[in-house]
Amino acid sequence: MEHRSIISACGCCGNDQESSPKAKKLIVAITGATGSILGIRFLEALQELGIEAHVVLSNWGERTIKIETDYTINEVRSLGSTYYQCGNQAAPVSSGSFPADGMVIIPCSMNTLAGLAHGLADNLIVRSADVMLKEQRKLVVVPRETPLNTIHLRNMLTLSEMGVSIVPPMPAFYNHPESLDDFIRHIVARTLDQFGIENDLTVRWGATRRLHSNSTARRVTTGSSTADAKLAIRE
Ligand SMILES: Cc1cc2nc3c(=O)[nH]c(=O)nc-3n(C[C@H](O)[C@H](O)[C@H](O)COP(=O)(O)O)c2cc1C
Repeated sequence: MEHRSIISACGCCGNDQESSPKAKKLIVAITGATGSILGIRFLEALQELGIEAHVVLSNWGERTIKIETDYTINEVRSLGSTYYQCGNQAAPVSSGSFPADGMVIIPCSMNTLAGLAHGLADNLIVRSADVMLKEQRKLVVVPRETPLNTIHLRNMLTLSEMGVSIVPPMPAFYNHPESLDDFIRHIVARTLDQFGIENDLTVRWGATRRLHSNSTARRVTTGSSTADAKLAIRE
């Protein structure tokens, strides 16, 4: 089953989707996998871009935010235009009549992934995602676990076959990341790309390739100077 595209023309990735509308209203869920900062930064990016975010945090999502970050739960909740309790199955986003353009679960625990792959809807996150599936809207999952067992892989395949975008938070090295922040921005950018949301959070391959095609840049990238490497990228 193919999902209907809600995505705008993407100047950043060059996909030819000019006739599709732009994503303006997204449901964003943070679950209890490590990497809650990915969801937080994704929400901050949406806020900066003026895109409406409807936020749901699982109980374990809240626990990981407390364990892994300096953000308070209220700060994260207020990054969206609206926040819903995960146990509130009567929230607007629980219904297909809610006009969300799509949804992302970032990060997505194996527990939530399994619930989704098997049609369970026992909290608002899985219910909202299930609604995206039945309404054939854009659903992006950023699954986080390692190593992956066969059940995890099967669940991802099941969802992929239904048109869900599976975007594991894997680092890239072609853009020469030098910090955890670089890695986080890369994952947030790739996730925004899934919705056709233009962003300049990272250097794209077209720019980094120049690093390898001029001798000055080749020299600086083998050294330790970030500033030099960044200058070389812009040459
Ligand atoms: C600090 C911390 C890190 C965790 N990291 C992961 C993870 O990377 N992937 C995962 O699937 N579960 C992880 N878990 C376990 C989940 O939180 C647990 O399975 C929970 O039931 C998920 O519930 P949820 O899907 O409703 O958020 C982690 C738990 C804690 C406390």
